[in-house]
Amino acid sequence: MALDFAPMPDDQGYFGEYGGQVLPPELKQVMDEINDAYNDIKQSDAFRQELKELYADYVGRPSPVYYARRLSDKIGGARIYLKREDLNHTGAHKINHCLGEALLAKHMGKTKVLAETGAGQHGVALATACALVGVECEIHMGQIDIEKEHPNVTKMKILGCKLVEVTRGTRTLKDAVDSAFEEYLKDPVNFFYAIGSVVGPHPFPRMVRDFQSIVGREARQQFLDKQGKLPDLITACVGGGSNAIGLFTAFLDDEAVKIVGVEPAGKGLDTHDHAATLTLGSKGAIHGFECYNLQDDAGNPLPVYSIASGLDYPGVGPQHCYLKDIERVEYQTADDAQCLDAFMTLSRLEGIIPALESAHAVAYAMRVAADMDKDQSILVNLSGRGDKDADFVADKLDL
Ligand SMILES: Cc1ncc(COP(=O)(O)O)c(C=O)c1O
Repeated sequence: MALDFAPMPDDQGYFGEYGGQVLPPELKQVMDEINDAYNDIKQSDAFRQELKELYADYVGRPSPVYYARRLSDKIGGARIYLKREDLNHTGAHKINHCLGEALLAKHMGKTKVLAETGAGQHGVALATACALVGVECEIHMGQIDIEKEHPNVTKMKILGCKLVEVTRGTRTLKDAVDSAFEEYLKDPVNFFYAIGSVVGPHPFPRMVRDFQSIVGREARQQFLDKQGKLPDLITACVGGGSNAIGLFTAFLDDEAVKIVGVEPAGKGLDTHDHAATLTLGSKGAIHGFECYNLQDDAGNPLPVYSIASGLDYPGVGPQHCYLKDIERVEYQTADDAQCLDAFMTLSRLEGIIPALESAHAVAYAMRVAADMDKDQSILVNLSGRGDKDADFVADKLDL
């Protein structure tokens, strides 16, 4: 299992015209120190070996690629495969970058690691990684998400992290980021803000991408080994974009492989209740970097919404913006109803309860598979498991 660290962005952290560091000079200096420490550590054999062993023995990597036969048969077109990130320790892809970030924070001698969380998956994964390496951890989470994702809230408490309830604004992910960032600004020299996706100022979009790219490298090789060819289409849901870039990176040079990111259309693209940033946003700055944004005329972030708490963010990773502009990746949407349908269909046909976030990608695959040939294949990144969402869905569907 090689750990390969891909070359983009440029030295200033730009992917084309997106990314960078939209920050006051003193914070730029702190980010540059993190960048230097990351550049050092990623060359270190000891760090690479430690991460490799943790991926194998602690996370349970490689995660399998599974052929969803009953789902594929029901749809009657392309074969649908799932990259089972839901089987990782802590139940999602987030642990892949949290281990890297926690090890880096420890290496830099930081006294506290803090972050935001939406669905609670990043929070649980970070609390887990901090327990493992022995660093203090503080997670900021919106009040609405705390109510909705209570199993993850309980886990974070058991794991020993301090949970800060965010009651301002939309009481969801964007305000949790604002709140965590304010705490971080109290002592950026000693604190480490472990961003939960491929967003934020340079070097985070690159660093989180590098840690997540294990997903695509494994999947590409697993697919070749089992099928003797690459999938025709790969797809993943896009909130900030970490699980998607994790899958996509290894396939970017494979021109024959179509790549599609799936954004949440929420209650509909013609309503205000969605978070389809790449589909309907425009260029702006948020949380220290430049990207497509859902924003008002004055450049303030708009309130966003998705049934999946981990997808309702008004910005998106800068590399996704670049990949959209150069037309290497296509961005489509799935709405709440399609997500719920995919959630239930996968559960009942395959015995796999997906996270609501991941169910967006499953919904897209179900939609397009019917129009593809039987000898074609789709690989879906099943970014997480749906334990956290089970009660919410059961209530909503009156099960
Ligand atoms: C299971 C799962 N998938 C996807 C996401 C969305 O994040 P990203 O777009 O960074 O992969 C989340 C966020 O919480 C998540 O929990």
